[in-house]
Amino acid sequence: MKSADVPAMQGVAGKIGDRKVAVYNSGDALVVLENICTHMGCQTDWNPEEQLWECPCHGSRYNSDGSVVRGPAMNPLTPLPFRLDDGEIVLD
Ligand code: FES
Repeated sequence: MKSADVPAMQGVAGKIGDRKVAVYNSGDALVVLENICTHMGCQTDWNPEEQLWECPCHGSRYNSDGSVVRGPAMNPLTPLPFRLDDGEIVLD
């Protein structure tokens, strides 16, 4: 996934290698999270109207930084260290 694939103020769910990721672009910086809901492991989707990550399984919601907005999840999405290599998002 390239940084250019994630528009400003939007999130994109996808894969980098074999890792499921949830990537948000604040306009200034990217936030790369492991896209595994901490409740029971489903993948979240970006909700562009509400600007948050939403789990389709039981309705947990997370802020763009991964913090929990609404349960049943109790714990935030895990941030993944990354670097940009010629615009490509590479996990460390
Ligand atoms: S697995 Fe995400 S809310 Fe249950």
